[in-house]
Amino acid sequence: MNRIIYPGSFDPITNGHVDIIKRLSKIFDEIIVVVAHSSDKKSFFTAKERLAQIRDVFKNDKKITVEIWDGLLVDFCEKKKCFLLCKGLRSVKDFEYEIDMAQTNKKLNPKIETFFLSTDPELRFISSSLVREVISMGGDISPFVPRSINAIKKNSKD
Ligand code: PNS
Repeated sequence: MNRIIYPGSFDPITNGHVDIIKRLSKIFDEIIVVVAHSSDKKSFFTAKERLAQIRDVFKNDKKITVEIWDGLLVDFCEKKKCFLLCKGLRSVKDFEYEIDMAQTNKKLNPKIETFFLSTDPELRFISSSLVREVISMGGDISPFVPRSINAIKKNSKD
């Protein structure tokens, strides 16, 4: 069975992430979506909330599994015995950040390979950080996130 890990903060998951996961599911037998911890980002939704949001989006798709991981991604890869990672790329700005992570992960564990998928051009402008900003100012996030996430708006004072 060919499997790939799709890691991210997913705070919250956006239509851009959903598109990448759906495209991966046409290529791989299993996509392990992992809600990982980024030490330089303070989260808006808790990891458990993000896990529940993503599971809800893919509740009818048996190929997608979703987990939380609090440690290094390379240790999650070892635990799963899966050494393929995928990240989405929207722009050169993403590339600079992603290439550093991919090369750090490879240095930490040479078995790991990171593949990049380019974002659908229609969804290129969407980011979790802009979605969080729109939520916190009471705006409409429905164009940017799956319907079920749109229903769960976080109280802006959280
Ligand atoms: O959605 P993001 O911000 O691109 O996700 C980044 C994430 C969570 C995948 C990255 O910070 C990560 O891998 N965190 C786990 C801890 C880790 O392994 N850090 C070193 C990465 S080189």
